[in-house]
Amino acid sequence: MRILFLGDIVGRCGREVVLSRLPTLRATLALDLVIVNAENASHGFGLSPGIATDLLNGGVDVITLGNHSWDRRDLIPHISAAPRIIRPINFPPGSPGNGSVQVELADGRKALVVNAMGRLFMDPLDDPFRCVTDLLTRHRLGVTTQAIVVDIHAEATSEKWAFGNVLDGRVSLVVGTHTHTPTADHRILPAGTAFQTDAGMCGDYDSVIGMTKEPAMARFIRKMPGERLQPAEGDATLCGIMVETDDATGLARRLAPIRQGGLLSQTLPDF
Ligand SMILES: [Fe+2]
Ligand SMILES: [Fe+2]
Repeated sequence: MRILFLGDIVGRCGREVVLSRLPTLRATLALDLVIVNAENASHGFGLSPGIATDLLNGGVDVITLGNHSWDRRDLIPHISAAPRIIRPINFPPGSPGNGSVQVELADGRKALVVNAMGRLFMDPLDDPFRCVTDLLTRHRLGVTTQAIVVDIHAEATSEKWAFGNVLDGRVSLVVGTHTHTPTADHRILPAGTAFQTDAGMCGDYDSVIGMTKEPAMARFIRKMPGERLQPAEGDATLCGIMVETDDATGLARRLAPIRQGGLLSQTLPDF
């Protein structure tokens, strides 16, 4: 299965780079499954139902979220009826929506997508390790599903590395989100799980993690609340990772980063 995962979409320019390039990428890379993290898609904070619908109609199969899941309150009544939008699995019991979704491709193959949130330097939540390993007692890679992708939305690189190693051999891909910065450590772990600490963001990198520079810099310098943060709206880079898995085992065969448009060095998977 050929899977594309794109990191946090930030603001209008992030949405536009994804929606404008995805149809061509789907075709040229022969993608079977496209997953995006969209927790910052609506003006940097949260995801509106309308934008979620645009993404799902524009070539995205599953949307993941994170600590900004409920910034747009209108998503709360919408998410229960939109199973392809998932929020972290370790949110409190009774939270709206689900932390995972099993999707069936047009050819009948199945993929499970899971969203979890780290706890180091983030809001206290249930144990993401236990929540995901509990879920995986009901889903067996290569048996009940051809692929399993886990978005670990976390601040600390250590927690994400630990997550990848705990799940090594049991899922196809563990990819980090939330730091909005792509890491160069994409690799296949010893038991066959593809891993990258952070997919990076789809947004304008002439910014502070996607937000306009001046107010963001002022917060650090003055240590006072200031102007509201706004998404930067220059040329955006589409940023993420592509993985090809073996349908028989569900494990990763190869992976490569993708960066298209905007400021970052450009790269496209060559398989
Ligand atoms: Fe984010
Ligand atoms: Fe986040």
